[in-house]
Amino acid sequence: MLLGFLKAKVEKFANRADKMAGVNATLKFLDEEGLYPDFHAIESGVNEAECVVDGKKYLMFCSNNYLSLSENPEVKKAAQDAIEKFGVGPGGSRVISGDVTIIRELEKAIADLVGKEDCLTFPTGYMANIAVFQALMDPLFYGMPAKSSDSAIFSDEYNHGSIVDGCRLSRAKKVIFKHNDLEDLAKKIKENDLPNKLIVTEGVFSLDGEILDLPKYVALARESGSLLMIDDAHGVGVIGERGGGVVDYHSCPEGVDILMGCMDKAFGGTGGFLCGDKRMIDFLRIASRSSILSSSLPVGMAGAMLKSVEIIKNETGSREKIVNNARYLRDRLRKIGLKVIGDDPIPAIALHIGTEKNGISFANELWEERIFSPVIRWPAVPEGTSRFRILVMSSHTKSQIDRFVDACEKIGRKLKLIT
Ligand SMILES: Cc1ncc(COP(=O)(O)O)c(C=O)c1O
Repeated sequence: MLLGFLKAKVEKFANRADKMAGVNATLKFLDEEGLYPDFHAIESGVNEAECVVDGKKYLMFCSNNYLSLSENPEVKKAAQDAIEKFGVGPGGSRVISGDVTIIRELEKAIADLVGKEDCLTFPTGYMANIAVFQALMDPLFYGMPAKSSDSAIFSDEYNHGSIVDGCRLSRAKKVIFKHNDLEDLAKKIKENDLPNKLIVTEGVFSLDGEILDLPKYVALARESGSLLMIDDAHGVGVIGERGGGVVDYHSCPEGVDILMGCMDKAFGGTGGFLCGDKRMIDFLRIASRSSILSSSLPVGMAGAMLKSVEIIKNETGSREKIVNNARYLRDRLRKIGLKVIGDDPIPAIALHIGTEKNGISFANELWEERIFSPVIRWPAVPEGTSRFRILVMSSHTKSQIDRFVDACEKIGRKLKLIT
């Protein structure tokens, strides 16, 4: 709907003789329709429960800093120590000069946390996801490890955009299965039974409030001879007894061939990783183009993340607190009559608002109430729809959560979403 409308307008405005015509027409359209997103530069309190924008205080309900490790003094000190020892940048890619001992130490610690043999880190999770499909499903040389024409990737329809982009970079056949529908997946595997198959899905669908039923995917991957990759960006550090993510949560240590994760969520920093057995990571180390052609994780960040992993392994209190905070917020939103999806014990609460315009109005009203929680829109969710991914942190207090719900109730009544 929106895309069709946008296309018609842009065609009308576009004067191909003017090289900026398409860009200008697009911006004009977004502006006229009130669809251009707001960007809010934070002055202080980045990732804290209360932040400052334009000199005003806002309650933050959209940061992935679940365990509040971003401003943890030990984590900050570890970053400073690493910078003191190694400088600020690695000076090259892993395969040239960027293979620094502290990055290796971090990889060992992450592999241990998620229960895998080895790990390869990247400066962002996006870079990990755009590397892995091409590496495994297309030839590196002479048809090895796979010929693209013999390869198929089976991807959940709700998978994150970085997985979508990674799949696009591979020439393997792309097959999309219905969200969390194992029957549809099994049927599609039968219909596309190529020699090299890879199933990819997420451990925690944060926009839907769900944890994956991992053992069933492991069984299907085994039965069909497919590799199984899980993007556990929102699970590692948050769920599972030791914070090991979806594999730990289901006590299902075997069967996931590639476990992907991010360090900008529970770890409180930035970075991405791929974990697997030693042979798999030895291969990905030389076949991941975004690793061999781009600089490695900054060393200060590696130092900080090493400390975050240590804290995650040794404490459970913050994990319990976010789950309790999330349960309380979810229950209260439902009581006031708003539509919340999912009940699994994760800190992301999926609030469905309806059309994109409703979502934008709701977000604008929240901003007026001094609450920072932007609406999630296409392409992150299906076109024409909108939702809020409300994220709770261990630093949120009950009274801050109550203030958030009271504001939602007032706005819901004003916009006639609550009767
Ligand atoms: C499920 C999932 N995978 C991958 C990414 C990309 O991670 P990064 O922000 O580290 O690039 C995100 C980011 O939000 C994500 O939610």
